Amino acid sequence: MKILVTGGAGFIGTHTLIELHKAGHETVVVDNLVNSQKESLKRVSELLGGVEIPFYQVDIRDREGLTKVFQEHKFDACIHFAGLKAVGESVAKPLEYYENNMSGTFVLIDVMRQNGCKNIIFSSSATVYGDPAIIPITEECPKGHCTNPYGQTKSMLEEVLTDVQKADPEWNVVLLRYFNPIGAHKSGRIGENPNGIPNNLMPYITQTAVGKRQELGVFGNDYPTHDGTGVRDYIHVVDLATAHVAALKAIAEKKGLAIYNIGTGHGYSVLDVVNAFEKANGVKVPYSIKPRRAGDIATCYCNPAKALAELGWEAQYGIEDMCRDSWNWQKNNPNGYEA
Ligand code: NAD
Ligand code: UFG
Repeated sequence: MKILVTGGAGFIGTHTLIELHKAGHETVVVDNLVNSQKESLKRVSELLGGVEIPFYQVDIRDREGLTKVFQEHKFDACIHFAGLKAVGESVAKPLEYYENNMSGTFVLIDVMRQNGCKNIIFSSSATVYGDPAIIPITEECPKGHCTNPYGQTKSMLEEVLTDVQKADPEWNVVLLRYFNPIGAHKSGRIGENPNGIPNNLMPYITQTAVGKRQELGVFGNDYPTHDGTGVRDYIHVVDLATAHVAALKAIAEKKGLAIYNIGTGHGYSVLDVVNAFEKANGVKVPYSIKPRRAGDIATCYCNPAKALAELGWEAQYGIEDMCRDSWNWQKNNPNGYEA
């Protein structure tokens, strides 16, 4: 298939491009580079043995720019990663987040339908479950209250895409609810490249291990979990990437609307991750216990059985692989994509 990948220069996008090409698909990337660099796409090409991926530096809110891309290419489907994703920043800049993520998706799906492409895979998040009513979380678990504008955009865009599909059954909409993606391509050439001080656990750990940060702050050790620290379902980004390849099956089968949890089904606490990282890499991660972070929940991990049953997908990598590959990326690229 020929796939439009919005946000393809980012963390998950770059890894997905590789898996799409390995599976024989053709791709075109649209990204405004607000949170990425062109260098990431250069490295994807290298990893694919020199395959040139057409790239358009276009903001998905730019209707004219996006329409031109559709005039030049006939797409079978779109994988829609483009969006702003920093939880804390979204609290400080709600309007910018709602504008970018909501308006961008409105323009994208309108331009798609005008050009006869009605197949979309959307990057949603476990955040839509709020403080989950059921653990492990199944897709039947009711959606919960999102504590920040970023999460709200994911939850609302799920509703928008659901309504669009209901109104026009020609649409196939796959909502992938990602759990916590970490890790990197085993080459160490592409990986997560956060701006400034990382919000998320793994980039904070790797930056501490490489000496860029003094110590990790562990946000709370009084949660009702086995060691008091927050438990999450970490998933290797390459597994997440292959989930997108698998999700194309739901589109080929014309499922209409389909929702899948994309996680491993295993929960690890913050201290479990620190220990696994130290063990896998033989490096120390100094840490101290800090107060809880506002908006955090105790436990979040999924039941990924539906993705296995319907898409034939399940995660292949474990926590040690994730820790090894995150570190391999960080130590080889201490400043990310900057030279
Ligand atoms: P990322 O920031 O690395 O990638 C997103 C890409 O979208 C960036 O390259 C950015 O430049 C681009 N972009 C943003 N707004 C755009 C716009 N208006 N027009 C064109 N391009 C635009 O993030 P990621 O971690 O690769 O996440 C990809 C998607 O998955 C996002 O939608 C994110 O919300 C979602 N997601 C991520 C996580 C996570 O923890 N990484 C978890 C759940 C869901
Ligand atoms: N944590 C720390 N110290 C840090 C960073 C995180 O102790 O410096 C803890 C958190 O308190 C939490 C766990 O590590 O218990 C994971 O935190 P992350 O920030 O890495 O991930 P979250 O589960 O909070 O959220 C992430 C994304 C969301 C997404 C969600 C589910 O940031 O956008 O996963 O996919 F919605």
